[in-house]
Amino acid sequence: MKLLLCLSILFISLPSSYSCNSKEEHTLLQIKKSFNNPDLLATWSPGTDCCTSWTGIECTNGRVTLLSMSKDDKLFGRIPDQIGDLPELQTLEMSYLNLTGSIPRTITKLKYLDFLFLKWNRLSGPIPEYIKELKNVTFMDLSYNKFTGPVPAWLTQMPKLQTFQIDNNSLTGPIPNSFGSFGDNVPNLFLSNNKLSGKIPESLSKMDFQAVVLKGNGFTGDGSMFFGGNKRTVQLDLSRNKFKFDLSKVKFGKSMALLDLSHNEIFGTLPRELTELHLQRFNISYNHLCGKIPRGGQLQKFKSYEFDHNRCLCGSPLKKAC
Ligand SMILES: *[C@@H]1O[C@H](CO)[C@@H](O)[C@H](O)[C@H]1NC(C)=O
Ligand SMILES: *[C@@H]1O[C@H](CO)[C@@H](O)[C@H](O)[C@H]1NC(C)=O
Ligand SMILES: *[C@@H]1O[C@H](CO)[C@@H](O)[C@H](O)[C@H]1NC(C)=O
Ligand SMILES: *[C@@H]1O[C@H](CO)[C@@H](O)[C@H](O)[C@H]1NC(C)=O
Repeated sequence: MKLLLCLSILFISLPSSYSCNSKEEHTLLQIKKSFNNPDLLATWSPGTDCCTSWTGIECTNGRVTLLSMSKDDKLFGRIPDQIGDLPELQTLEMSYLNLTGSIPRTITKLKYLDFLFLKWNRLSGPIPEYIKELKNVTFMDLSYNKFTGPVPAWLTQMPKLQTFQIDNNSLTGPIPNSFGSFGDNVPNLFLSNNKLSGKIPESLSKMDFQAVVLKGNGFTGDGSMFFGGNKRTVQLDLSRNKFKFDLSKVKFGKSMALLDLSHNEIFGTLPRELTELHLQRFNISYNHLCGKIPRGGQLQKFKSYEFDHNRCLCGSPLKKAC
């Protein structure tokens, strides 16, 4: 009788105290092994509940939905193929590690993947096209890696994508034409500090981006298609390129708050409309602009070095009078 009671307590309490799916526990232990059992994963030990006591693991209904490994520069190797055997994963973070190679094809098995953070590694090669099979991804951060090849034209086939970050890689070539045909979701684009070049396709003028950061590339020609009086753009950073267009012809949307056009070949005068914006950042230094800086709004609150090195700008906050 006593034994029976003990057993039944054991059986009742087992499922709630030990919720880790045994197949997924096995997968996680293989992942740990593939990284040579690093200190970062010291808590990943068999016989303990992966859902409640393993660092960087979260479960929903006993299935692993989040895997987060971050900040260990002694950890090296590739992203293991076994990652595809956590089929309910919604968040995958492997960042600030020392991972090399590419993103394995098995990742396409993660049908529910929503957030993909792989920033600050040494991942290389072109961004694999099979990533587009991850139709539920909303946020993809691949910045600070060594990816090469083009900006993926197939991003337009990821219907839920809201943000794509690939800053500080070595991508080459232009912005693809397809970027003029995003659907309902127009993603934020963070493409700074790559080796991108060429002209921006005119078709992008139809897109209402909330944030576009192209800083530190070799883009040329017109950049005015990113502007527009009816757009909801909050952040536009075209700095450190070779954009050449007439700023006097540009119309600003009311939400523009962070505008950096510094280090280009932009000419013309500053439109009066700039005084109507709630600007938090504004930098037009090192261009070919001319004429009087309009008075009012936020404009005189910025430092003179944010207006410096233009052809013939004058008026406050510059010392040069008109
Ligand atoms: C990262 O890995 C490379 C070789 O793969 C190694 O040379 C380098 O020292 C590692 N970085 C750190 C911080 O351990
Ligand atoms: C995306 O997730 C939903 C549930 O949130 C799921 O029904 C759907 O199948 C997923 N999409 C794909 C392409 O698997
Ligand atoms: C990112 O790229 C910029 C421009 O090439 C460079 O100045 C900066 O140091 C890079 N950042 C890192 C952390 O590598
Ligand atoms: C604007 O650009 C100048 C020149 O590159 C730089 O010194 C300054 O820090 C920039 N200001 C901001 C707010 O980024």
